Parts: sequence; C-alpha cells; structure tokens
Amino acid sequence: MNNQEMQNKRIMLTGDRPTGRLHIGHYVGSLRRRVELQNAGGFDEMYIMIADTQALTDNFGVPQKVKDNIIEVALDYLSCGIDPSKVTIFIQSRVPELFELTSYYLDLVTLSRLERNPTVKNEIAQKQFGESIPAGFLCYPVSQAADITAFDATIVPVGEDQEPMIEQSNEIVHKFNSLYGDTLVPCKIMEPDNNACKRLPGTDGKAKMSKSIGNCIYLSDDSKTVTKKVMTMFTDPTHLKIEDPGHTENNPVFIYLDAFCKDCHFEKFLPEYANLDELKEHYRKGGLGDVIVKTFLAQVINDTLDPIRARRKEYEADIPGVYQILQEGSLKARAKAQETVSRVRRALGITYFEDRKFIEKQSKAFKKKLADEKAMEEYLAKQKKN
Ligand code: TRP
Repeated sequence: MNNQEMQNKRIMLTGDRPTGRLHIGHYVGSLRRRVELQNAGGFDEMYIMIADTQALTDNFGVPQKVKDNIIEVALDYLSCGIDPSKVTIFIQSRVPELFELTSYYLDLVTLSRLERNPTVKNEIAQKQFGESIPAGFLCYPVSQAADITAFDATIVPVGEDQEPMIEQSNEIVHKFNSLYGDTLVPCKIMEPDNNACKRLPGTDGKAKMSKSIGNCIYLSDDSKTVTKKVMTMFTDPTHLKIEDPGHTENNPVFIYLDAFCKDCHFEKFLPEYANLDELKEHYRKGGLGDVIVKTFLAQVINDTLDPIRARRKEYEADIPGVYQILQEGSLKARAKAQETVSRVRRALGITYFEDRKFIEKQSKAFKKKLADEKAMEEYLAKQKKN
C-alpha cells in the first residue's frame, strides 16, 4: 500500500491517561462520540489506548496510582458502550514499539519547539515543576506522535486542549517523510461539535472539571451523589430571588443542559416546557427558580448515566475478563505497531539483518579490499627479494 492509499483509510485512535475515574466532561467531550463512531461503522480500524506511559511522565512517583486506575478507565470505556469486538482497547506500555518510534522522532524535534507547546506549557505552570521539569514530561507530545503514527491513524477524536499535540505530531510526520521518504500518515483532529461539550466546566463553575479541585461528576457516581452534586452546583450569582431575571450564558447548570439534555427529557421530566430554548427563555425573563432547573438537570444526567451504571456493574463482576480484553487488545495493537516500526526502520535504512543485498555488497567490498592488500604485500615482498 502506498502512502496515499494509507492516507485514504479511516483509522481512529485516541486515548486517556489512567490517573482517575472518567467524568461526565470526558463523556460529552469524547466518550459519547467514540461510541457513536463505533456504531456508525465507517472506520477501517479503531483503537483506544490507556496511556499509562504518558500518565507516568508526571506520576512517576506514584506508579501504584496509574496501576490502580487502568481498570477504572477500562470499566468506564466498556460501560459507556465501547465494544471490544469493534474497537481495539490496549495499554500503551504493552506496545514497546511505541518507545522505539519515540526515540527516532525525538531527533526530529527541537527543545525550543517542545517548550513552545501551549498545553504542555500550561501543565508545567500548573504542576509547579519549577526548574525540575522531567524530560519525559516535556517530550510526551513526541511519544503521542508515536501513538498516533504507529497505527496510521487518520482521525484522532480529542478535546481542544489536544490540538497542539496533533499539530506537533503532523510536524513530525512531515519532517520524517521529507527526510526519509513517504512513510508516516498525517492525521486530522476531530473535536466535539457542540461548544458546551468542548470543555465542560466543573460543578463550581471553574473552567475545567478536575479531580484535584473536586468539581467533577464521575460516570461511576451513583444517582444520589449526582443529585447532591447538581443541587449544590454554582449557578447565576445574580439570580437571587425567583423573580429576578437570570443568565443562562456561562451558567454551568445551563451549559450542562446544553451538553446532555434532549427534547425527550422534557417530555419525561418537565412537560411544562417543549425544549431547552423555552426553559432558557423563562429563566432569563425571571420567575423560574434554580431548584426546578437543577432538579431537572439531575434527572437528565441520571437518565443518561443509568444504562452506563448498569453495564459497569456487569463488567465489575468479571474483572479478570476485563484484563483479558486489555491483554488481547494490546497484542493486536502490538502486531499493528510492529508493521509500522518495520516500515520506519526500512525508511531509516536501519534494517541491518534483513538487508541481505547490503550485507552482500559490503561483503564483496571488504573481500576486494583484503585481496588488494594481499596483492600489495606480495608485490612488496617480491621487490625486497630482488
Ligand atoms: N494526551 C491525551 C490526554 O491527556 C492522552 C493521549 C495519549 C492521547 N496519547 C494519545 C490522545 C494519542 C489521543 C491520541 O487525554
């Protein structure tokens, strides 16, 4: 298959770091889409990776945390409806070919380019590494390029914070191809289409759901916990009395509704309104209390999570079976990555043992050299005698 034909394939790859259970921000930002794409069936191959190696770049001091969360992330995938017969779910570190690709790619990237990656820059500031930035952390976008290219992925569904990674990955692809010939396949990012889904704020209204802030609703939270978290959510601070006109923009309660609510939820839980537009209009006009809106939101989220919770329980009853899925997926992923590594080694010309012609050529050249030396020695010896 030539490079153009590879570019025309539809291969999806995405992944998550196993540092905690997945939350509803992951769900609307990515997981829901993955399941839709899987069920639509338009892909030649689909891969989802549990990025343990990447998680270790800033959790190297707590490897147990990464280990513990592999199963949580796998359970979240499966319970959202990822079907392992359609999607290869695998663990990053179980595909050592990714390390090899990372090494070659590191030569094609400058330190200053790594330091310019805006997502990495933000993370470094947040994590307060100071002067002690782990080299592996700074380089994780390069290993992410290995993840993407190892599978010839053409489509990478991720959140907008991952844009710089995709850009850097494609830069590496182009640099590699221009130096060594068309070998790697560039990819396209696929972002959520609904703005609310791009970056779901935390329940405190802060920019992002984050485990460390404790403003997350987890996919595995039970319905009581979800209701409690929703009822205490940050909402419009200027909406003090029910009669006050309210703001729906930048109001996390309404952003969540934008992300989750369907017309059928009104029919089911709040038949006084036909759709979200009507509800928003009433809130903005005044006369609609936050308790009604939040109660509805809790119902909507719980209605969405109920089937996910039910499936989670089934998989939780067979944990060895889940590990089996990951092991089989990792073997399958490895076979694919091995093909890519062979291609990459060939492009670099470092296929030493397989390149019989090259060995033959060198062998001939050395034989000739030996013969020449011998002839010269004989000639000199003869001269001496005379
Ligand atoms: N960086 C991604 C995240 O933090 C996880 C990830 C690792 C990934 N490798 C990837 C995503 C390759 C897409 C493709 O969520």
